[in-house]
Amino acid sequence: MKSIYTIVAISIFLISCKKDFNNTGTEYANEMYHSEAYEPLSQIVDTKNADYNSNPNNPYGMNMRKPVSNTLKINKFNFNFGGSGSVIPITYHVNKDSFDLSGKMLKSTLKSKPNFAADSAVLLEQGKVLYTNFCSHCHGETGQGDGEVGKIYKGVPSYSKGRVKMDTEGHIWHTITFGRNRMWSHASQIVPEDRWKIVLYVQTLQNQD
Ligand code: HEC
Repeated sequence: MKSIYTIVAISIFLISCKKDFNNTGTEYANEMYHSEAYEPLSQIVDTKNADYNSNPNNPYGMNMRKPVSNTLKINKFNFNFGGSGSVIPITYHVNKDSFDLSGKMLKSTLKSKPNFAADSAVLLEQGKVLYTNFCSHCHGETGQGDGEVGKIYKGVPSYSKGRVKMDTEGHIWHTITFGRNRMWSHASQIVPEDRWKIVLYVQTLQNQD
């Protein structure tokens, strides 16, 4: 009896193999090798094709849905690099440690708008609200680093003293976007234009003494 099992096992083993090196032979759990997942970038819509892989639950059988309207593209937004005055669409791919470069080159997209002068008071007021919501708990109402969280978190500088007083608008925007040392990035919470509004307000706090 034992020998029958051995013969069956050996024959299965032998007939499973194929001569062609590119053929994996008989597969026992083929879902393991050939993913049943929908492929968004290689969608086959022809129902007669053996590899047909369209999602019947989506309109037009699409595997990948389009993002909802008004979705923000992360790291892809208009900004003004080089201070030419015009807003140029370019991906902001400056290294997160490049404070000096951003400090020198990055200019406010709000200031390059023709109606900036007329709107500046409103923008500053909006910047103050955003600052109060996102920054003041660490940096304090007047930017002295004495917010309730800042007192415990420690190491929060005053905006109006030392090197930080000299931080340019690009430098402050870069700090909000990427964070700096113990300060975390706020890029996921604050859209680029709102960051510039905060910068306007932080600049008034830098110049308070
Ligand atoms: C969790 C607390 C916390 C929050 C919230 C926070 N910061 Fe900071 N911030 C810090 C700390 C700590 C530092 C010092 C970082 C360092 O050690 O270089 C700092 C540094 C800075 C600096 C100085 C950067 C430099 O040149 O050294 C600026 C400007 C700044 N923050 C702006 C902001 C703004 C604007 C917001 C709100 C969008 C904000 N921070 C939110 C903790 C915070």
